[in-house]
Amino acid sequence: MSQNQVVVGAQWGDEGKGKLVDLLTEQADVVVRFQGGNNAGHTIVVGGEETILHLIPSGILHANKMCLIGNGVVLDPEVFCREMDSLQNNGVSVGPERLRISYKTHLIMPYHKRMDNFREKIRSGDTRIGTTGRGIGPAYEDKVARVGIRAVDVLDEEVLRNKIAKALAEKNVLCEHYFGETPDTVEDVLEQVLPWAKRLRPHLADVSGEIQRARDAGRKILFEGAQGTLLDVDHGTFPYVTSSNTVAGNASAGTGCGMFAIDDVVAVVKAYTTRVGGGPHPTEIEDEAGEHMRDKGGEFGATTGRQRRCGWLDLVCLREAVRLNSPTSLAITKLDVLGGLPELWVCTEYEHEGERLTHPPQKQDGLGEVKPVYTRLEGWQDDISGVRSWRDLPDAARRYIEFIEEDLGVKVGYVSVGPGRDQTLVR
Ligand code: GDP
Ligand code: IMO
Ligand code: MG
Repeated sequence: MSQNQVVVGAQWGDEGKGKLVDLLTEQADVVVRFQGGNNAGHTIVVGGEETILHLIPSGILHANKMCLIGNGVVLDPEVFCREMDSLQNNGVSVGPERLRISYKTHLIMPYHKRMDNFREKIRSGDTRIGTTGRGIGPAYEDKVARVGIRAVDVLDEEVLRNKIAKALAEKNVLCEHYFGETPDTVEDVLEQVLPWAKRLRPHLADVSGEIQRARDAGRKILFEGAQGTLLDVDHGTFPYVTSSNTVAGNASAGTGCGMFAIDDVVAVVKAYTTRVGGGPHPTEIEDEAGEHMRDKGGEFGATTGRQRRCGWLDLVCLREAVRLNSPTSLAITKLDVLGGLPELWVCTEYEHEGERLTHPPQKQDGLGEVKPVYTRLEGWQDDISGVRSWRDLPDAARRYIEFIEEDLGVKVGYVSVGPGRDQTLVR
């Protein structure tokens, strides 16, 4: 039985990480988010009731489990407080005894959200990233530029004021003279942020220390990834990516534990491919099968409500995801959605510049130039959402999973056949 696990998305996000983390939390003691922010939308369905979490770890619905937000996250104080309130209204305890934020976590400020939206506005057509507009990129920029506001800064109003002033000095020039928008004043920003910021104070903690203490006590840690491997700022489809490292390796840097603290990596793979926002998606389809995936799979973004771009499973991209994360097992989700399709196409290679490729081309925009080569597998017509054991799956569904498993060389440990906590086969 493994100890500490990382859960990451293997595609372009929305693979069903929230559902899996909720499930795995049963055997864990501490759940920690290590990157991203409220660009994430993680859906959990328990007893038919849906909860969408953007920032608070997906373990929160299990009473008595510690939930931590690591230094690698960018946290919008307003969203954090609203999410706490909404959970509390539903009877979920979110007190500081079980919900803690690293002192080192960077905060998303109102001006980050404005910048994010101004940038998108001046980009046209295909050059738009299609960000979630939550200020994620600009907040990470400030961290790297060393002018970011950190959670610890909310402990001292003067420090906060001075740091906001410093951050705004450059931004206001851009705001006025490049974007043609009204600049922010320090007092305005402070007034907006202070009430939320004050509520963070009791939740601040040394998250790295918390993890170490939990490990010393033999407790099990679950690291919850957000977004997906193909959105990783270094390894994803740059520049159509998010602004953090989404790969499993960041679980260590994004929380403050050594890499040998991690025993197990579970990569979540949707049984087909979706992408929301701009950028290449080689197996995207707009035919009946694509409509089937969108309608049956409810493929609309959990954060922005945008329609997700659906397509066939892409093993070329997944091979890269396996290389980047070294998963010890895969979780295949939304297998039920494929039921009813006569044939399932799986992309096994790309054609590019007269060559056959088994891995994505490394040159920028290369993924936008490839032509997918497909293997066609038999579909199944039965509804599998009630199936709970491997042997009760239709033969064609088992063959589909085995095809993925053999190609990627990683065992499939979980198969999800519906959004509910109980709609999972553990192999
Ligand atoms: P995340 O961002 O990776 O946590 O995924 P999202 O929550 O954004 O999107 C996954 C969507 O699929 C949510 O609406 C889930 O409730 C739903 N879902 C998860 N697993 C399954 C499954 O196996 N079958 C079906 N039909 N829906 C699922
Ligand atoms: P979860 O955790 C799917 C996408 C956006 C956009 C790009 C950059 O729910 O899987 P950003 O706001 O991060 O600067 O946007 O990344 N994106 C996601 N797509 N799921 C997510 O999170 C995403 N978070 C960001 O649509 O294309
Ligand atoms: Mg999501």
